[in-house]
Amino acid sequence: MAEKFKAPRGTFDVLPEQSAQRERVHQAAREIFGLAGYRFIMTPSFEETSLFERGVGKSTDIVRKEMFTFEDKGGRSLTLRPEGTAPICRAYVEHGMHRLPQPVKLFYAGPFFRHERPQAGRYRQFNQIGAEAIGSDSPLVDVEVITLISDLIEELGVPGVELKLGSLGSLDARANYLEELKSHLRSRAEELSEDVRERIEINPLRAFDSDHEGTKAVMADAPLLLDHLSEEDAEHFEEVKSLLGAASVEFTIDPTLVRGLDYYTRTIFSFVCDRLGAQSEIGGGGRYDGLIEQLGGPATPAVGWAAGIERMLLALDEEVTSPGMDLFIALADLELRTKAVALAAELRHHGLAVEMDLAGRSMKGQFKQADRVGAAHVLILEPGGSASLRNMETGDQQTVDPKAVASLIRP
Ligand code: HAM
Repeated sequence: MAEKFKAPRGTFDVLPEQSAQRERVHQAAREIFGLAGYRFIMTPSFEETSLFERGVGKSTDIVRKEMFTFEDKGGRSLTLRPEGTAPICRAYVEHGMHRLPQPVKLFYAGPFFRHERPQAGRYRQFNQIGAEAIGSDSPLVDVEVITLISDLIEELGVPGVELKLGSLGSLDARANYLEELKSHLRSRAEELSEDVRERIEINPLRAFDSDHEGTKAVMADAPLLLDHLSEEDAEHFEEVKSLLGAASVEFTIDPTLVRGLDYYTRTIFSFVCDRLGAQSEIGGGGRYDGLIEQLGGPATPAVGWAAGIERMLLALDEEVTSPGMDLFIALADLELRTKAVALAAELRHHGLAVEMDLAGRSMKGQFKQADRVGAAHVLILEPGGSASLRNMETGDQQTVDPKAVASLIRP
């Protein structure tokens, strides 16, 4: 026998019995985004590698270790998208969206790719849903996008979720603080993990995210960015906090919150769930006021987030059963199949969910199958043109004209 294949490491199949739950997430998200005026955007699954190098940042784990990069037949370096914000900003600039009324409010959903060590909640191909509002620095927009994800989590009923909020300040204002942090790290370099030590100069903030005991001890005494915000950035943050309060979104301030991408400025946030173990972040994001300009566009402030669909599903851990069928057509005789095919097509055109026997089963077998597919009614076609309709819940059965079935069972 030929060797069988398996899905690649860190990837998974979504089987039919798992898809109803996933569809529920998409549906809830579409509704919530639509009500707030966000419109769907889809970008390619791969982009030029340099978009991510420049957009996500060369010092990040994503760019240093996790990208699926390949050369196409023309020698161009391409990368399977590890995240969605840089591609959307690329599209914003490419299509001149700065000419539209601002902010441009977008949402997206689809697969993303990171070569990470697979574990529960961490995959090499995973799916995100996300929203981006581009073209305004108003704290109102920070609060609007945070409310979207908060509403989604609430609508789905994800338990045990907490919102952590922080601010990274604007790029210029952060520079002084970073020098202070670097000198703190340099002064105790021998206590740090190798990874953090290597990145003191290029990405000192990541030290706050380390699990390494020595590094944690050094960071316990580190200066905090929240204590060093410029007056404007501090005001912006205060406004975000007070508007979140007005929108009844609960949060806690985390002065050590940092994120894995370089583009963030000012507000950052993270929704964590206590049911998820090590990979506890359901979703997160923040402002990225410098990114569009960095990608060749006009200076344009923006804010957004992405949530991991698989992490939401893991946290929900619920069964969503697929909606059953309205009708199953059973045949007393195989000769009736032409009539059954025509009737099934006609009833489906009327919007009814209809299945019929496709396997030449006995009458008993057909009733079993009707049960399996969750049919509310079974129509038994008899030779000579007569038919009877059975209500599967009550067991009532009546002789019917097959042409009248739609009006008899329309739910
Ligand atoms: P991120 O924090 O890298 O942000 O990813 C967002 C979410 O995607 C995470 O909170 C997590 O739920 C999910 N996720 C990330 N990596 C994996 C993985 N390997 N397996 C399963 N789920 C994963 C971004 O991607 C930014 N683009 C978010 C953003 C949008 N910021 C501003 N706008």
